[in-house]
Amino acid sequence: MNTILVKDLQQGYGKTIVLKDINLTVSAGEILALIGPSGSGKTTLVNTIMGMLKPHQGEVTVLNQSMPNRKLLAKIGFMAQTDALYDTLTARENLTFFGQMMGVKRDDLKKQIKYATDIVNLGPHLNKYVGSYSGGMKRRLSLAISLISDPELLILDEPTVGIDPELRQQIWTELHKTAKAGKTILLTTHVMEDAEQADQIMMIRRGEAIAQGTPDSLISEFGVSSVEEAFLKAGRQQDENLSND
Ligand SMILES: Nc1ncnc2c1ncn2[C@@H]1O[C@H](COP(=O)(O)OP(=O)(O)O)[C@@H](O)[C@H]1O
Ligand SMILES: [Mg+2]
Repeated sequence: MNTILVKDLQQGYGKTIVLKDINLTVSAGEILALIGPSGSGKTTLVNTIMGMLKPHQGEVTVLNQSMPNRKLLAKIGFMAQTDALYDTLTARENLTFFGQMMGVKRDDLKKQIKYATDIVNLGPHLNKYVGSYSGGMKRRLSLAISLISDPELLILDEPTVGIDPELRQQIWTELHKTAKAGKTILLTTHVMEDAEQADQIMMIRRGEAIAQGTPDSLISEFGVSSVEEAFLKAGRQQDENLSND
């Protein structure tokens, strides 16, 4: 079953077109990484899939429902690019608040808070006010919040920004475990090492999907030896096509 289906999407703000001809499917149990430079349209795509933006053209379906769809939100663990946390509450209070909003039962909250915070190593800092947290700690708390309800679908916008390499590796181990358990994960990144960990990669540049496939298939399609070189080559081909138009 496809958890996410995007068909012939065109998206933008007002009259400005930001995304063109985006087609993508993500199946249950799969991790898809959207990689592209800043301003390429990753957040716009993710927010459209979440239903925060209505498609200008084309279709977005999540868990077989057309988006936007308010009711589906409780099934999606979302980590926005900008942390939306309450600074005047402790991390535990933030997790409790968002957990209740996502429908986590009172009896399960304690267990779910432990599960989510162990993944991001925030256990020892749970009773601190979020206002005193560093940027990286806030990212980790946002990730924990997206995991709190054990959702079927995780959508993570730049989850690894400000996170040190060791913890990043630990988070990837958990994401793989989560996917193995049948959950679907869509994440954005501008770091190649992250994209290489995904089952599928969509390379996005200037609002266009310049290449997509598994890391291995991209390497062989472009006849290169790394995902990074595939991205660079796909980018040069896009420039050539644009100058020929
Ligand atoms: N709310 C908005 N209104 C107008 N333009 C926007 C808005 N958000 C993003 N953009 C523009 O859309 C383009 C893609 O942005 P974004 O999706 O945030 O890219 P990324 O997440 O890859 O950095 C950029 O040119 C950005 O300036
Ligand atoms: Mg972004």
